[in-house]
Amino acid sequence: MNIDETVSRIIGKERTGRIVREAFREYDIDGALGTVEAIGKAKESRFCIDDRNRFVYCNLVRWLHADERMKAIHPVTGREIAGRLDCGIYLGGSTGTGKSLAIGVMADYGRLCGFRMWFGCDDGAATWRVIRSDAICDVYAESGTVRKYGDAQILCVDDFGTEPEVSSYMGNRVDVMRQLVESRGDRRDRISIVVSNLPLCGGVKARYGDRVQSRLYGMCNYFKLEGKDRRLP
Ligand SMILES: Nc1ncnc2c1ncn2[C@@H]1O[C@H](COP(=O)(O)OP(=O)(O)OP(=O)(O)O)[C@@H](O)[C@H]1O
Ligand SMILES: [Mg+2]
Repeated sequence: MNIDETVSRIIGKERTGRIVREAFREYDIDGALGTVEAIGKAKESRFCIDDRNRFVYCNLVRWLHADERMKAIHPVTGREIAGRLDCGIYLGGSTGTGKSLAIGVMADYGRLCGFRMWFGCDDGAATWRVIRSDAICDVYAESGTVRKYGDAQILCVDDFGTEPEVSSYMGNRVDVMRQLVESRGDRRDRISIVVSNLPLCGGVKARYGDRVQSRLYGMCNYFKLEGKDRRLP
């Protein structure tokens, strides 16, 4: 076998079973944030990018653009670290800090820009629909399976941790979200976006155990939205 064949086999293998991002093209971060702000304002007239959320919005934009300059937060030390473009997002923060709106705005931004990702053996759109974790549990209780969420190229779950601990189908009692995160966490060709009030370090372990916490460390870039409840008048 010649060297070219060997290399292409290796590259072929490398693209199998994992996330590969399109090569990053230069863009203007201020222009991108302006577009994000326009999407936000279309959903919520008071929408603004301010000191409390700029880091999060800026780095979610970089993540979608596959920009290696992306940063994230270390879930244990809280320090700024390099982001991982082949991992998903865990967005924490207390109630009303703007998590659900942020993840919806970024889904629209991804759709608008038409970003793509390589999901192991298939290419797909870098955008998502948001589903609440209790709605996933309802699907399990009605049908006995959540396979479509386990297999989704990008799964975006909001309000992770607010669902019932046990869902039942024909006598099978299952902690649906725990199983779902564990199974997705063992794959490298899927992106999970998790939005929660639970701090990734500690809060997730208390609710789901250390296997889930550990997998989310590996699967996701951690972010936290800070500040007061934006629902306050
Ligand atoms: N950047 C923003 N600028 C202005 N208002 C915002 C912003 N982000 C969110 N809001 C508003 O703040 C309120 C709370 O936002 P959101 O529902 O996204 O919070 P949350 O963090 O998901 O809360 P919870 O943890 O309770 O689910 C909403 O009315 C939303 O429209
Ligand atoms: Mg919310």
